[in-house]
Amino acid sequence: MKNSTNISKYKRLAPIYDIIFGKFFIKGRKRAISLLNLNPNDKILMVGVGTGQDINLIPFQCLVTGIDISDAMLSKAKEKSKDRNVNLLNMNAENLEFEDESFDFAILNLVLSVVENPREAICEALRVIKDGGEILVFDKFIVKNRVSIFRKLINKATSIIGTDINRCFEDITDGLPIYIIKDEPSMFNGNYRIILLKKN
Ligand SMILES: C[S@@+](CC[C@H](N)C(=O)[O-])C[C@H]1O[C@@H](n2cnc3c(N)ncnc32)[C@H](O)[C@@H]1O
Repeated sequence: MKNSTNISKYKRLAPIYDIIFGKFFIKGRKRAISLLNLNPNDKILMVGVGTGQDINLIPFQCLVTGIDISDAMLSKAKEKSKDRNVNLLNMNAENLEFEDESFDFAILNLVLSVVENPREAICEALRVIKDGGEILVFDKFIVKNRVSIFRKLINKATSIIGTDINRCFEDITDGLPIYIIKDEPSMFNGNYRIILLKKN
């Protein structure tokens, strides 16, 4: 999906996103975030923070920055984070305006299946985390080279709600300096995966 399309799609989705997806992903989110060994004052970047559903799963003592391309989604995240100090910014995941090695962790939940250029988004996340920093991904991916015609058809429908079900994590990250710490199946028979990776 093009960035401009995502901005307009997520403007329409923002008022109903939590109603539709709030309970749906909560178990997967909790499991994913439980894999992070978070310490007080750790700096965490949420890429495509959306309505901020992950924010309050992070301990209060951590320093959270959330970026998103959609102001409508960010304003929902702002509502959720009013009791804590979260830095929310309108920014493109493919061109982060942060110095190299600014964060300990980056979280890209349900984002690589949405951004126009997922490889650029993950390269940028790698750039802004410290050496040895970790990236958490909870998202849906296809098994390499296995896109059925049926799935292609379904993808037309899911594109309407701003997501692509035919992306392959291994293709997106091919050749990048990463080490996979954990890759476990999550919802829908492992169509959704929780992947924790370390910057090499
Ligand atoms: C499916 S939502 C996921 C939101 C949140 N991470 C979650 O887990 O609920 C995808 C989010 O990515 C954002 N997004 C899409 N393209 C982006 C880009 N290039 N840069 C930053 N955010 C982007 C959308 O605006 C939307 O908020």
